[in-house]
Amino acid sequence: MQEKMNELKLSALSALEGCETSRDFQDLKIRYLGKAGEVTGLLKGLKDVPKESRAEVGKIINDLRQELEGAFAAKEEELQKKEMEAGFLAEALDVTLPGTRPERGTLHPLTKVRNEIIGVFTGMGFEIFEGPEIDTDYYTFQALNIPKDHPARDMQDTFYITENVVLRPHTSPGQIRCLEQKEPPIKVLSPGKVYRSDDDATHSPMFQQVEGIVVDKKVTLCDLKGALDAFAAKLFGDETKTRFRPSYFPFTEPSVEVDVSCFRCKGKGCNLCKGTGWIEVLGAGMVHRNVIKNCGLDPDEYSGFAFGMGVERIAMLKYGIPNMKMLFENDVRFLNEFDK
Ligand code: DAH
Repeated sequence: MQEKMNELKLSALSALEGCETSRDFQDLKIRYLGKAGEVTGLLKGLKDVPKESRAEVGKIINDLRQELEGAFAAKEEELQKKEMEAGFLAEALDVTLPGTRPERGTLHPLTKVRNEIIGVFTGMGFEIFEGPEIDTDYYTFQALNIPKDHPARDMQDTFYITENVVLRPHTSPGQIRCLEQKEPPIKVLSPGKVYRSDDDATHSPMFQQVEGIVVDKKVTLCDLKGALDAFAAKLFGDETKTRFRPSYFPFTEPSVEVDVSCFRCKGKGCNLCKGTGWIEVLGAGMVHRNVIKNCGLDPDEYSGFAFGMGVERIAMLKYGIPNMKMLFENDVRFLNEFDK
């Protein structure tokens, strides 16, 4: 009996020693100390022990049980501690690892350029006025001094909705709506989408323009030059100059085509400016007396300047984009180039 107990003790302690996980530990505990376990088995065997030594053997078995219980409790504590530490380690954050960066968007190049243009002029005190994209023949043409059958209507391949209603081919109708609604001094910028039946590498059926108009007493061509000089410096670089070339628009007199000195070759001549040192960027002029009259103002008292530019054209020049379609395809590789 004594030998059996020793064996049991040794086997229990060595099994406990080799036990690594709480799962194995639970199995061992059941095997040795459980209800149907080996130590309980010994106690059950007491009935076969001669009566006179039963109390003594019983005590020895109980001592063994207590000893094993103590050893099991110590092991349990050890295992719990070990597993808790392993858990902490597994959950630990390595703050030196690089984080996962969220995907970040960027403003579309056209939005950037439009915002830049708007920023320059609002900085000079221009208010923003957005006219409708669908407009009448009157606002689109007639009030702008382009009567029915005037050849200048062909300059803009207009989409007609009905005989009298069009998708606006330019933002210039904004001039009329402002002059009708506001009292001078008027200083307004009218950005928006325009539509023309025109489609090639530098034209698209939909594009954006920014129109500007200033009307007050004694506004001169010099004021126009000053405003556009500031615009050119801001968009194309401080050293950029502007020059006016005579042109024709029905709603301005005189009318000018505005060039900026080539910001790539600094005016020496390159393929961007086709060797001329200058790049055409917009149309402008002094608001025609008829336009001022059409809006109920006296052209002897009030004068003004106006200008209109294409946002896509400015963006293409500024970023050296060869085809306007690239601005509308939204190829992410292209758009990422502007995330600088
Ligand atoms: N509306 C003209 C166009 O679409 C651009 C323009 C030229 C606007 C001269 C103006 C201007 O206000 O004065 O081509």
